[in-house]
Amino acid sequence: MSTMYGQFPGARPRRLRTTPAMRRLAAETRLHPAELILPAFVREGISEPVPISTMPGVVQHTRDTLRKAAHDAVAAGVGGIMLFGVPETKDAIGSSGTDPDGILQVAIRDVISEIGDAAVVMSDLCLDEHTDHGHCGVLDERGGVDNDATLERYAEMARVQADAGVHVVGPSGMMDGQVGVIRRALDEAGHQDVAILAYTAKYASGLYGPFREAVASSLKGDRKTYQQDPANARESLRELALDLAEGADMVMVKPALPCLDVLRQFADIADVPVAAYQISGEYSMVEAAAANGWIDRDRVIMETLTSIRRAGASSILTYWATEVAGHLRDQ
Ligand code: PBG
Repeated sequence: MSTMYGQFPGARPRRLRTTPAMRRLAAETRLHPAELILPAFVREGISEPVPISTMPGVVQHTRDTLRKAAHDAVAAGVGGIMLFGVPETKDAIGSSGTDPDGILQVAIRDVISEIGDAAVVMSDLCLDEHTDHGHCGVLDERGGVDNDATLERYAEMARVQADAGVHVVGPSGMMDGQVGVIRRALDEAGHQDVAILAYTAKYASGLYGPFREAVASSLKGDRKTYQQDPANARESLRELALDLAEGADMVMVKPALPCLDVLRQFADIADVPVAAYQISGEYSMVEAAAANGWIDRDRVIMETLTSIRRAGASSILTYWATEVAGHLRDQ
């Protein structure tokens, strides 16, 4: 059989795959250190970093080792660092989250003094690390999460985090109206330049499991009354429209690999940068399989990150940020 190109098959896509040089030239998607954001945990009252058993290679930092991790991330060219605080004492309203000397605020000041604006410093704006019940908000008398009472706590958290010098706040609690309330609180306190990275499409995922150890969570039950149902894509678009209307500067999809379809939709329609969070369970699955010799760790890490970028992420939060950025820098 012949075609207009000569012998069958007339089209040979494999030509572009023949050599490493050809594949490198033809690659549509490239990773860059500046797109990577390192999530980091800092725990109050410890003198040595505490390994997180469910996330091999990740630790709860002391104030000192957090400074070093921030320094190393910047040296590798990472674009940002997202801070999570683990307070020594937790209570029903998450008081440590609004204490100017709470561990997260202290950590923000430490990191800013260490790296200045060599990378973007971000903070988790949520109550679950601070509450004794482990929910992302305050509870009503029936034990449900009280949306509007929680918003008042978030407004106060935004103020203290901004006062500590953070560049970007990351509201991750999935309360209705959180972005608007936080924007207003920041503006009224004179923090017009502090940006909001909204956790816009955040799904109730089993893959947050390892994170719960990372922040010493005491949560019983689940977050299904506020985080999205993995069965739904359409409501992500509604959350996106709301977050943009309320003033989100950047939006996020989370988890990453299970939500590449949502990520692609956001990337196609959002007129702001779209981040994706490769969460704790995504990290741990790869580390565990690699530790068993079942997969090639480095190859799978690069494949997952490239896929997330290919689906449209402008930036990626990943626990491998410093390692991968260093590797990209040295290539
Ligand atoms: C909430 C928050 C969570 C994560 C980031 N922010 C936990 C949750 O919603 O249950 C998860 C991150 C991860 O799993 O890596 N403050």
